[in-house]
Amino acid sequence: MPCNGTEVFQSVGRHFLQIPGPTNVPERVLRAVAAPTIDHRGPEFARLATELLERLKTVFMTRHHVVVYPSSGTGAWEAALVNTLSPGDKVLAFETGHFSTLWCEMAARLGLVVDLIPGDWRHGADPGLVAEHLTGDVAAVMVVHNETSTGVRSRVPEIRAALDRAGHPALLLVDTISSLGSMDYRHDEWGVDVTVGCSQKGLMLPPGLGFNAVGPKALAHRGRLPRSYWDWEPIIAANRQGFFPYTPPTNLLYGLREALDMLEEEGLPAVFARHDRHAEATRRAVRAWGLEVLCADEREYSSSLTAVLMPDGHDADAVRRLILERYDMSLGTGLGRLAGRVFRIGHLGHFNDLMLAGTLSGVEMGLAGAGVPVKQGGVRAALAYLEETG
Ligand SMILES: Cc1ncc(COP(=O)(O)O)c(C=O)c1O
Repeated sequence: MPCNGTEVFQSVGRHFLQIPGPTNVPERVLRAVAAPTIDHRGPEFARLATELLERLKTVFMTRHHVVVYPSSGTGAWEAALVNTLSPGDKVLAFETGHFSTLWCEMAARLGLVVDLIPGDWRHGADPGLVAEHLTGDVAAVMVVHNETSTGVRSRVPEIRAALDRAGHPALLLVDTISSLGSMDYRHDEWGVDVTVGCSQKGLMLPPGLGFNAVGPKALAHRGRLPRSYWDWEPIIAANRQGFFPYTPPTNLLYGLREALDMLEEEGLPAVFARHDRHAEATRRAVRAWGLEVLCADEREYSSSLTAVLMPDGHDADAVRRLILERYDMSLGTGLGRLAGRVFRIGHLGHFNDLMLAGTLSGVEMGLAGAGVPVKQGGVRAALAYLEETG
């Protein structure tokens, strides 16, 4: 097939979907989603929902309720804000990258006053800056746990500790959209009030489910922002009988049951360790190529994706395009101010050693093919680490 920039050169074999979400959906989950839709007001559905609402708590590491929306992550962001805050409330946020910026833009559109602590998109939220910005009128602190645009993890427990040291009552709202089910995260233990998540990343599902894990303080602190569809109260009330106040995404819930089975079979600590190990192998490959990982602080490395900085004068999107056309692999593009400067390797979800080996081989061949001055041996360095630690 001719390579004209839109058609994929290699159309046989399997596509490598190595963007940091949506991720590869396991066959088991796809088959589960394909089961016939049932009556969402009947007893079989009530049993399914009751089971899932209980089991979901494990993934968030919470004893409290998890609200499930038929939505993308953006919807779950909005739900977290409109349920807890009132017009004119001040929120404190950290500019860790593209997604933290978008969440703040949403907050401002909803009528909140945003104090955005500037950042360089190479570091996580700085716990050391919390105290000086934590004026008495701050109603909530917003943190993106894993900034998908940069591959940087924010140290949520340290942000919590800074709030506690100040004795400040602000709610802590955390986005775990690209860390849930792939990186260690503990809603209750870390004292988070609302955790925002969604289906299409670590949970290995197609896009379409948004989540809010809601702690008791958040539930008690109902804001006055207008809300209807996103309102937790009617949803939680209906959930008590295993129902929803609207038509739920039944088939995605079948998929969720299967995905939770898979996560339970592997065990969450093993899931996190697998992601940590693949992330470290990826960073070894990047360094062996002579390139730089965007994340500048090793305490803040993401385990679900790695953003790779391009040498000056080389366009990351040209490399991504070549890799897609020649090797049928999709990598994440640079977002916002990082457009053209980074590409992102997703190594999360349904993913194993050989998938990582294939992914890094595609990147290594693509960099060479695009004329980027890199050293060979990145794949070898990653494989050596996988062999050592396998
Ligand atoms: C960290 C983070 N927050 C929010 C979003 C927005 O989620 P969605 O695109 O599902 O609306 C994304 C999407 O990738 C994300 O990575």
